[in-house]
Amino acid sequence: MRYYGCKSKLLDFLSKGVAKTGINHGSIFCDLFSGTTIVARYFKQKGYTVYANDFLEFSYSLARAYIKNNTYPNFSGLKKLIDGFNGHPTENLDIVVDHLNNLSPVKGFIYKNYCPGGTENLDFPRMYFTNQNGMKIDAIRTEIQKWKDENIISEDEFYILLTSLIETIPYVANISGNYAAYLKKWDPRALKLIKLRVPVVLGSKRKNKAFKEDANILIKKIHSDILYLDPPYNARQYAPNYFLLELIAEGWFNGQEPKIYGKTGMRAYENQKSAFCQKNTVLTVFEDLIRHAKTKFILLSYNDEGLMSEDEIVDVLATRGDVQIFKRSHRRYRSINQNESDRRIVFETLYSLKVSKE
Ligand SMILES: C[S@@+](CC[C@H](N)C(=O)[O-])C[C@H]1O[C@@H](n2cnc3c(N)ncnc32)[C@H](O)[C@@H]1O
Repeated sequence: MRYYGCKSKLLDFLSKGVAKTGINHGSIFCDLFSGTTIVARYFKQKGYTVYANDFLEFSYSLARAYIKNNTYPNFSGLKKLIDGFNGHPTENLDIVVDHLNNLSPVKGFIYKNYCPGGTENLDFPRMYFTNQNGMKIDAIRTEIQKWKDENIISEDEFYILLTSLIETIPYVANISGNYAAYLKKWDPRALKLIKLRVPVVLGSKRKNKAFKEDANILIKKIHSDILYLDPPYNARQYAPNYFLLELIAEGWFNGQEPKIYGKTGMRAYENQKSAFCQKNTVLTVFEDLIRHAKTKFILLSYNDEGLMSEDEIVDVLATRGDVQIFKRSHRRYRSINQNESDRRIVFETLYSLKVSKE
């Protein structure tokens, strides 16, 4: 999934940083700002006990499906509703996904607010999804919520299906990278009929966990061996930029339709503003995190265009022990708002701290 600050291309760099700590698999690796969960997944596959946390619901769904969940659930509650169940969990997941792909389209919240047909009375009808895909998304999201509310599927099963939908959205959304605006012409990708992607469950014998909390609150409740921090670097808030993923993850049921506003139908996000995205608060929350960390090593990813300077970061980290710095150049994520003159290469820094002071 394209996501600001996603570490998919830096996993080997991170892996080398983790190897240098000498902390081996089996130990607890906590990814406190897990976003797409790509880092958490990588270290789960390496055999660590992984905790993944993010304050966004869509990220929590991914963490439930890929981190907490270690086996394919069997969806046994759907046996009577869907033909073809044969008792083999991976095949059952394929059958459920197939059933969802074939639901009849419904004119629901997504169609009414994010498709041209449902918004034709606006001065600028919204073009996030084609009418057909918007109605399919409505049908799928409504069906999996109904199954959950009627206890036909378990929470683990629910999050696997929700993750399947969330991870498919970027393939049919008429956007360039993030959801803050839609394209004014249809991207050919968005015109394809939605087809759910099937999540691949990662096996593990460890007690992996998923959290959805503010990092500064969770830090006071957990212990880890390696604490990996990948907070936002700049003033770009995640909740508005990924609002459609968040809205689809949270749903719109029991008469609780999300408040949306403006030309794009942005979802309200007052409660999801990150203090790490604000110059006047970032150092305070960062200091607080480092002060309360109960761990052997802290690894922090940050880049050289971030709100905190290298000196500020080192001053804070040095209060808990010796700091080492590793750098890697990295092609920056290009957004629609970027100018030709903007830098293409940024330096990703990995700060590694062996905790020796209380
Ligand atoms: C740089 S991204 C992490 C990217 C992730 N490592 C990946 O590879 O996909 C930062 C993440 O921090 C989350 N976040 C921001 N402020 C937070 C807070 N106070 N508590 C928990 N999560 C927060 C955002 O939702 C976002 O997903």
